[in-house]
Amino acid sequence: MPLVTSTEMFKKAYHGGYAIGAFNVNNMEIIQGITEACREEKAPVILQVSKGARAYANRTYLVKLVEAAVIECPEIPIVLHLDHGDSFETCKSCIDDGFTSVMIDLSSKPFAENIEGTKEVVKYAHDHGVVVEAELGALAGVEDDVNVSAEASHYTRPEEVEEFVSKTGCDSLAIAIGTSHGAFKFKPEQCTRNEKGILVPPPLRFDILEEIVKRLPEFPIVLHGSSSVPQEYVKMVNSHGGKMPDAVGIPEEQLREAAKSAVCKINIDSDLRLTMTGTVRQYFDEHPDHFDPRQYLKPARANIKETVRHKLVNVLGCAGKA
Ligand code: G3H
Ligand code: 13P
Ligand code: ZN
Repeated sequence: MPLVTSTEMFKKAYHGGYAIGAFNVNNMEIIQGITEACREEKAPVILQVSKGARAYANRTYLVKLVEAAVIECPEIPIVLHLDHGDSFETCKSCIDDGFTSVMIDLSSKPFAENIEGTKEVVKYAHDHGVVVEAELGALAGVEDDVNVSAEASHYTRPEEVEEFVSKTGCDSLAIAIGTSHGAFKFKPEQCTRNEKGILVPPPLRFDILEEIVKRLPEFPIVLHGSSSVPQEYVKMVNSHGGKMPDAVGIPEEQLREAAKSAVCKINIDSDLRLTMTGTVRQYFDEHPDHFDPRQYLKPARANIKETVRHKLVNVLGCAGKA
């Protein structure tokens, strides 16, 4: 089937008590690893491209690689989504390139400005059959061009969501309830430690989510910054020359709980980065004489596939839902 929008996917996910995985893509191996897992597990999927990914690969390559995945995986619905679009121009350019979904992220702007800018994107997107994700609240953490300090971050204010959604006409809403971008989501002093000495982060604010859901019945909610930062990969990186002390993510148990609620889209990037980096670091350590990129990218792609499979089956609950 051709690329789809997320409209039907979210409807089914909302009522089915599961979430769709939205995985960031930057190159061929990542796209192949994700879509092969989704194909084998019969899971719908959102492949998302950030502004930085577009700058890295150029605006044509990732679209064409995703189109190749659509041909290779005809049985599963695939959405091509712009992650963290920062302007009307970026969103327009992606819509013109064939994306079926865009995010306009004006969450760092004042409320009225966020509404106005989002509205403009919604108008152009809807005129072209494309859906729009918007954001209210500010996640802490580092994304390509944006670095939101813990102090500047704030939770979504439930009292703002109805006005925002009705005035903008957006199709889904990203909210801030305690997730954050990157592999270092919390400072050690914000966490406790378990018996193995591993950091345990503060719980997500499900009370805020509940309040938002009450005000926006049947409306798809999105969670960014939802990597779990698997400790086996942190260990793999660190034991093969890397340095990622105290990397910590969102516990899977909490993501499972979120996926059962109105949260229909869960964004994952850092876990794929960790998987790829850990695998390649170990490979280089074990095969210092190898220099053919296919030799080390092959296990990296295979491990990305297994990381994604684990998310689909054990965290998101979307396996078998294609
Ligand atoms: O939320 C941001 C994603 O992890 C994308 O990161 O902007 O560095 O491509 P990036
Ligand atoms: P992570 O850094 O937790 O993977 O979040 C990715 C994300 O939110 C992409 O928009
Ligand atoms: Zn994000």
